[in-house]
Amino acid sequence: MNAFGAGEPATERVTLYSGNANPALARMIARYLGTELGRCEVFEFANENIFVKILDNVRERDVFLIQPTCSPVQKSIMELLIMIDAFKRASAGRITAVVPYYAYGRSDKKDQPRVPITARLIADMISVAGADRVLTVDLHQGQIQGFFNIPVDELTAVHLLSNYFIQKRLTEAVVVTDLGFAKRARAFAELLDAPLAIIEKRRIGNSDHAELLNVIGEVRGRQAIIVDDEIVTAGTLLEMVRALEGMGVTEIYACATHGVLSDPSVERIRESPLVEVVITDTIPLTAAKHADKLKVLSVAPLIGEAIRRIHGGESVGALFTSEMNLVQEMMLWAEEEAAEEVDEGEGGTLLRAV
Ligand code: R5P
Repeated sequence: MNAFGAGEPATERVTLYSGNANPALARMIARYLGTELGRCEVFEFANENIFVKILDNVRERDVFLIQPTCSPVQKSIMELLIMIDAFKRASAGRITAVVPYYAYGRSDKKDQPRVPITARLIADMISVAGADRVLTVDLHQGQIQGFFNIPVDELTAVHLLSNYFIQKRLTEAVVVTDLGFAKRARAFAELLDAPLAIIEKRRIGNSDHAELLNVIGEVRGRQAIIVDDEIVTAGTLLEMVRALEGMGVTEIYACATHGVLSDPSVERIRESPLVEVVITDTIPLTAAKHADKLKVLSVAPLIGEAIRRIHGGESVGALFTSEMNLVQEMMLWAEEEAAEEVDEGEGGTLLRAV
């Protein structure tokens, strides 16, 4: 893959910045693009007010601000908004909010009286703060794109994840998912040339607990690969595992784009019969969450390539489709680049990308 940015006049160079949500991913994206992260200070005062200072001249620059809205969620959101405001007031030419994980995705409709649509509220706040466009990965529901009146490029990790399982050469795979992820899971299953089974799920009240109702499709004697957009408490995942165990599958794997991994998900995964759980680095995996069964694939080349194309006015379309050569090249790049990277400080980030 080519280095990017070297040799261009400074004003035409892409400028990347990161908040505190996932600096390891931001650094890897910068390495993919052959550049370095811009300099900025982002910290909290004693009164919990966030302060931001951009330390470079960004006048007329094409700024990409990388900040997933992951834990600590409210702080990550505020950092994102305040940084966008700082870039706007510093006369950046264009500001792209790169939000690899979009929080509050489950709050996307008014499905009971007197509840908010928080995913819409966050979209409004990002636009009002001054973002010109958004780049994201696997929204909880694609319709969230429509909450924005600015352009949104939604990438998907489906090709990255499916390619990983293609390389495993499972002989009798079946892809298993719930209704909410069925469309993307169908694409995943087609890439693997495997059948798809759907599990009907019902969330109980406003709790994190989900109840499984029916499995539609043939899974007996097969290796199940459960696919979802995110793993939060792993409650849904373990319910699916239990349902599949009773239906005679031979092995169970799982994968999801976003490893939110709130307590007690990692413990649940460790103690489960799952052979392997594959996630991406849209959200950092802290050392405390490390488990042998967890495999992390990096979306850095995917996001980096999208940034390169957006900046250069090229089509991003190829990244939404199944250009397997491109995916394999990206995985190879990440494999060569990936080193274990441990951030300084407590609860540091452990990035184990392949
Ligand atoms: C829900 O609709 C999503 O697709 C995931 O299944 C859900 O968010 C996972 O949450 P948890 O791991 O807490 O069950």
